[in-house]
Amino acid sequence: MPQDGPSARVARHRSDADAVDAARRRLATVFPAAAWPELEPDIAAIVRLKRERNAVVLAHNYQTPDIYHGVADIVGDSLALAREAARTDAAVIVLCGVHFMAETAKILNPDRTVLIPDPGAGCSLAASITAADVRLLRQRHPGVPVVVYVNTSAEVKAEADICCTSGNAERIVESLGAETVLFLPDEYLARWVAGRTRTRIISWHGHCEVHEQFTAVDIARVRRAHAGLEVIAHPECPPDVLAAADFVGSTQQMTDWVRTRRPARVLLLTECSMSDNVAAEVPDVELVRACSLCPHMKRIDLAKVRRSLETMGHAVTIDPEIAARARRSVARMLEVR
Ligand code: 13P
Ligand code: SF4
Repeated sequence: MPQDGPSARVARHRSDADAVDAARRRLATVFPAAAWPELEPDIAAIVRLKRERNAVVLAHNYQTPDIYHGVADIVGDSLALAREAARTDAAVIVLCGVHFMAETAKILNPDRTVLIPDPGAGCSLAASITAADVRLLRQRHPGVPVVVYVNTSAEVKAEADICCTSGNAERIVESLGAETVLFLPDEYLARWVAGRTRTRIISWHGHCEVHEQFTAVDIARVRRAHAGLEVIAHPECPPDVLAAADFVGSTQQMTDWVRTRRPARVLLLTECSMSDNVAAEVPDVELVRACSLCPHMKRIDLAKVRRSLETMGHAVTIDPEIAARARRSVARMLEVR
């Protein structure tokens, strides 16, 4: 299995009119032509504001197609967004995703303005563990290195030795060369990694409220209804679901798998918008839908992205001492190739 998807898509345009036109053409594969007059004012305003503010829009693979195909400069999984956030020279980063992703961008760019269009966009995994929990686990397991999933708060990252994402978790654990690691907070990702490494993994009881809903029974039912179906899954799914899937990977690895393998029909066991975004790129592939919505990701919409750039709200702030310690964990992850 590839450990890293290729880098995120990066869009560049010569003029605002070119950028709006490119958005119109990309969105023509997702929305009926009649939808464009409604989308166009927000998209044109966002394109202009990005230029005026020297801003870049980073969007996670779970953002809706109007954001993903309409206004994002960079799209990708958590790992790609962190990498691109570390590389950008824009003055302003608008992070279309959930709060921990915007925090990660701020951790890597303490001197830039990082905006999140809706600061209430949380994550059940990030909410499942606190910095005090990590300190307690360290006391219980002295000397055991702590790997934290990027789906955590800055405070939790600050207590870790290193971060990981779903795209590099196995490699990060192996890079430590330890007999045992604490792998927090996603229990299912921890079990997935434990099955692929000799390292002993001590996990936590965090779950993704979206991916924990999938079942192996669902997969069997959908396979019966669709001959020749390929099933690909995110490692936040429960173990029996991962065992029944044909491929397991991060959102970028799943997208790249469909792009390169071009199956006749595929089921993406992950958030719904990813199927919409992938379907727009591969019209020859039938995307069978049995997805779940992430209510946190869905708090971000085009109108809020526009308002965010108009008002420069909501700027992410992190206590500098916590940000400096969290940066060590994130930077250490980015150094592992
Ligand atoms: P990826 O890093 O695979 O994009 O996953 C992020 C996430 O929140 C999945 O639910
Ligand atoms: Fe968090 Fe799950 Fe939503 Fe991803 S899909 S942001 S892990 S709640």
